[in-house]
Amino acid sequence: MSAQIIDGKKIAAKIRQDLTLKIKQLQKDHNLTPGLAVVIIGEDPASQVYVRNKRNACEETGIKSVGYDLPESTSQKDLLELINKLNEDDDIDGILVQFPVPDHIDTETVIEAIRPDKDVDGFHPYNIGRLAVRMPALRSCTPYGVMKLLESTGETFHGKEALIVGASNHVGRPMALELLLAGCTVSISHRFTRDLEAWVRRSEIIVVAAGKPGLVKGEWIRPGATVIDIGINRTDKGKLVGDVDFESARQNAAWITPVPGGVGPMTVATLMLNTIEAATSRRNIKP
Ligand code: GUN
Repeated sequence: MSAQIIDGKKIAAKIRQDLTLKIKQLQKDHNLTPGLAVVIIGEDPASQVYVRNKRNACEETGIKSVGYDLPESTSQKDLLELINKLNEDDDIDGILVQFPVPDHIDTETVIEAIRPDKDVDGFHPYNIGRLAVRMPALRSCTPYGVMKLLESTGETFHGKEALIVGASNHVGRPMALELLLAGCTVSISHRFTRDLEAWVRRSEIIVVAAGKPGLVKGEWIRPGATVIDIGINRTDKGKLVGDVDFESARQNAAWITPVPGGVGPMTVATLMLNTIEAATSRRNIKP
């Protein structure tokens, strides 16, 4: 068997196209142009690329993006002051601080400083907590995008055995909550997991976000499984690869995401979706 490819680029483009129409309607009916503040600190090249993609997607869909490019030396105090100002600015519906931030700035302090109803990354403990108690508000972009990819396959979720490889705050944990909400029986493996192969072999949905190229071997994949690869790693030769050994995994899987062109574009599309959700729910506008 050779797996069907889940085309994240195509699915994300369709979401952005729908959102473009929705924004036109919001402008017409409510004179509302959603605004997203995008804050980047320092010169990390990968972050610069991600931020450029996010700003371009805003422009394409009609969201007003306001950029704050701050120097590496920016203090935590100054960053928190900017966040406070954006929290109070009525023209700003979403606040995104690109991570990683420099070492002298504490990531969790930054996340908690953002008003939960403007937390379009869905990283604030309030939003993660809402997801945990089956009352999702703003959902973490990458897991939310993965759910849309899984939904696109038309496969059912109820009772499926799902494994998330990687237990990070921003991806693995909210991913587990999303799959639990969808009715899967969920396991999370992490650096202390003793027998990753055995966990992968029994799972019908495998979502990998470990940042380790080739961590999941193709022969471990259960025949007919769905494989979502969130990893993005650059090889010595400059090629982008995921955490799953794609060529061998596609021999066993029924569905699989490529890297690049799988999860990556979805993270940007769901950020746009969240910005519109933040803009409308804050003003009690029904979508
Ligand atoms: N850095 C890598 N991925 C992300 C993301 O989804 N959001 C933010 N804010 N920073 C990131």
